[in-house]
Amino acid sequence: MTLIEWKSHYSVGVEAVDHEHRELIDLINELHESLVADAAQPDVTAFLGEIFRGISAHFALEERFMREHGYDQFDEHKQAHEQLLENIRDIMDGYDADPEGSSRQLSRRLDAWFTLHFKTHDARLHHRLGVHGHR
Ligand SMILES: [Fe+2]
Ligand SMILES: [Fe+2]
Repeated sequence: MTLIEWKSHYSVGVEAVDHEHRELIDLINELHESLVADAAQPDVTAFLGEIFRGISAHFALEERFMREHGYDQFDEHKQAHEQLLENIRDIMDGYDADPEGSSRQLSRRLDAWFTLHFKTHDARLHHRLGVHGHR
């Protein structure tokens, strides 16, 4: 099961950034597939932790990039990142009790958040400052 599908409205209009976002989504899907494929795996939190780390790493890159450039909307942007990380943490907390419901919730939450965040915060950031490096 694919957790999130790339959608054209995810595009920020900068190809290299879209590419990075696609990679992030691929990573999330891969991790999620391994989670679903091995239901006996007792440590689901480890997989979810990887998803969380993958997303955090992308955010950390953007935040460093914004800081380096003295970006004017740094606080708002970082706050939006933190909000998603908090949501994911909440979903992780409920995962053991209801894995399927939590997967659905995670998928919906990520889709809604990416839809909004990519075309607002990320599009603005990258149209102003260009593309950041990967590391
Ligand atoms: Fe981004
Ligand atoms: Fe962002």
